[in-house]
Amino acid sequence: MKPFIRVDENLSLHLARPELAEAVFKAVNENRDYLRKWLPWVDGTRSVEDTKTFMQESMKHNSDGSRLTTFIMVNGQLAGSLGVVHFNREHLRCEIGYWLREDHQGQGIMARACASFIEYLFKKKGMNRLEVLVMPTNERSRAVPIRLGFLSEGILRKALKMYGSFHDVEVFSLLKDDWVLRPEK
Ligand SMILES: CC(C)(COP(=O)(O)OP(=O)(O)OC[C@H]1O[C@@H](n2cnc3c(N)ncnc32)[C@H](O)[C@@H]1OP(=O)(O)O)[C@@H](O)C(=O)NCCC(=O)NCCS
Repeated sequence: MKPFIRVDENLSLHLARPELAEAVFKAVNENRDYLRKWLPWVDGTRSVEDTKTFMQESMKHNSDGSRLTTFIMVNGQLAGSLGVVHFNREHLRCEIGYWLREDHQGQGIMARACASFIEYLFKKKGMNRLEVLVMPTNERSRAVPIRLGFLSEGILRKALKMYGSFHDVEVFSLLKDDWVLRPEK
């Protein structure tokens, strides 16, 4: 299947589609403890049927343009997901979300996937501002926007309720102008 975005020879992003459900569920199921610490939806993914339902919803959102869910493939294996969890069309801003299998961390996969995705969102989707929302204690996740030149705008105090407790959320943003003016461009 043709990728949605080809990042490089080994790495590509694929739009949600039914055939990916088994591999996505397997990745979530095998990485449950590691992912659930930061992603509240993991406990609600109990069977492949749940992932099939999520895939159908994602396909619907991908076609109506309200979200954009893609899956990261490395050498033909499902490595994680990267997407827009919410588009604000009026103000041309959107929020990006992501996860990787634990055994795929530390290789720059998310950094490279995000760089191509960001390029797509600014150039093809006409976005002006991208946001990443992270729990400040999630050091690995914080490092992703920082590495890509996002700026921290501060903390939304206790903005996330997860497992019965409230958590702070740090907001990172990247503007189209920041990206275009990056020194390495
Ligand atoms: C957040 C998450 C995707 C980060 O994964 P990651 O592997 O740290 O991120 P990257 O793929 O960008 O890799 C960066 C690492 O690869 C290294 N690297 C190797 N080649 C690289 C390259 N070409 N470019 C950038 N980094 C590279 C970096 O030095 C860094 O290593 P380090 O963490 O040991 O310093 C992952 O930890 C995760 O899925 N966590 C659980 C779910 C989660 O928290 N999601 C986000 C919720 S807000």
